[in-house]
Amino acid sequence: MRKKIVAGNWKMNKVFSEAETLITEIADALDEVELINTEVVLCPPALYLEMATDVAYESNFKVGAQNVYPADSGAFTGEISPLMLKALNVSYCIIGHSERRKYFKESHDFLLQKIDALLKHDIRPIFCCGELLPERESNQHFAVVKKQVEESLFHLGVDAFSKVVVAYEPVWAIGTGVNASKEQAQEMHAYIRQLIAGKYDVETAENTTILYGGSCNGKNALELFSQPDVDGGLIGGASLKAEEFMQIVSSL
Ligand code: PGA
Repeated sequence: MRKKIVAGNWKMNKVFSEAETLITEIADALDEVELINTEVVLCPPALYLEMATDVAYESNFKVGAQNVYPADSGAFTGEISPLMLKALNVSYCIIGHSERRKYFKESHDFLLQKIDALLKHDIRPIFCCGELLPERESNQHFAVVKKQVEESLFHLGVDAFSKVVVAYEPVWAIGTGVNASKEQAQEMHAYIRQLIAGKYDVETAENTTILYGGSCNGKNALELFSQPDVDGGLIGGASLKAEEFMQIVSSL
């Protein structure tokens, strides 16, 4: 059975003391709940990964990075390697987020290299895909997502692919307060699962965790997560408050 996941993408928010408080609050709240076949992943800024993995060691969540450079070491000023992440017990890494595609011009090919670099160290990529508003309005959303998934993931063999988590994040829903409807989310998630079944096999598709992201919050999580192909969420703004984040976790 595929795992359910709620992942918090903190983006570039919180100074250290605030990050410590938020992580501690979430860790304490997680102590009170029983998670069955469910993983909670916190993805703070890179500076706080060590603190987060220290807390995670005695708690019920995993730690994810927001970015990685596709080389183990070398002259890449300012970058962080998968080897460094692994040494800190980081379990996941977000790849292909629309903000990185847009502001840092990350190409399909660069994302592919990052995916390979992570998998080499057994770090699970959370691969983001999703269309822009004009692409949905012109009915190209399926084609856009298909291309993103095919070009950055479908070179993988089936064993490597089984480590990947997919996150469908329509760009028009990210940080806007306008989430995809449950029907829109379900339709795209089922489509992605069908692509995976076509490339690999039905079992691999059924075992792949596909998250929804984009203005998912404490109010709409239950409705979105109740869809058969929505296996949890990648949460931005609403992951920055412990209470709301825990409300989302308990919506799984
Ligand atoms: P949001 O962001 O929940 O603030 O819309 C989601 C994301 O970018 O992963």
